[in-house]
Amino acid sequence: MRIDILSVLPELLESPFSHSIIQRAINKGLVEIHLHNIRDYSSDQRHHRVDDYAFGGNAGMVMQIEPIFNAIEALTKERQYDEIIYTSPDGEPFSQSIANQLSLKGNVLILCGHYKGIDQRIRDHLITREISIGDYVLTGGELAAAVMTDAIVRLLPGAMNDEQSALTDSFQDHLLAPPVYTRPAEFNGWKVPEILLSGHEKKIAEWQLQKALERTKKLRPDLLSDDNL
Ligand code: ADE
Repeated sequence: MRIDILSVLPELLESPFSHSIIQRAINKGLVEIHLHNIRDYSSDQRHHRVDDYAFGGNAGMVMQIEPIFNAIEALTKERQYDEIIYTSPDGEPFSQSIANQLSLKGNVLILCGHYKGIDQRIRDHLITREISIGDYVLTGGELAAAVMTDAIVRLLPGAMNDEQSALTDSFQDHLLAPPVYTRPAEFNGWKVPEILLSGHEKKIAEWQLQKALERTKKLRPDLLSDDNL
């Protein structure tokens, strides 16, 4: 898989991808992540300006159409993208299901928004999917791009070893994950539930499902609604 990220602050994204599972996935050749600076595509040679005042007089700057168009055009000349994603608080809510879908794609381009947003014509004509990572407003789309990339890359076959399996994640079956414990079996008088020490695989699985259901009912009943199941 290949993920290209277009941003005015690509430096912000260097660290999130240079550790742990994501770094290992890159080293194993499972994914290539390429960062591109939108300013490099500005026609303003002197100041590399990429924003301008909004038509209509509303407050805030808007990212200009031309540098983004030039950047997307240059990248799409090199390869075809399965999705061109724009990160925005008014996009569809990101989810495990979207991460699963995107992890099956070959080439994905993510455009990080900034300021008051980007010229709507880019959204209308070039973007294939608009995604929000939650109902709050970040200063830019870079962190959203990092969150999505992380969630996608860990799902690539070979990115995680068995004991970290993505199949047991919260949300993978519309349930939160059950509680987990490790040694010692007793600390400070706090005991690990007896059943987990029993070695009885079937009973343990039933207990874990029960706990997952209890946790989901209490914290995220929306996941158990008919629409989600
Ligand atoms: N840019 C600013 N806020 C965002 C959000 N919540 N999700 C995605 N991109 C954003």
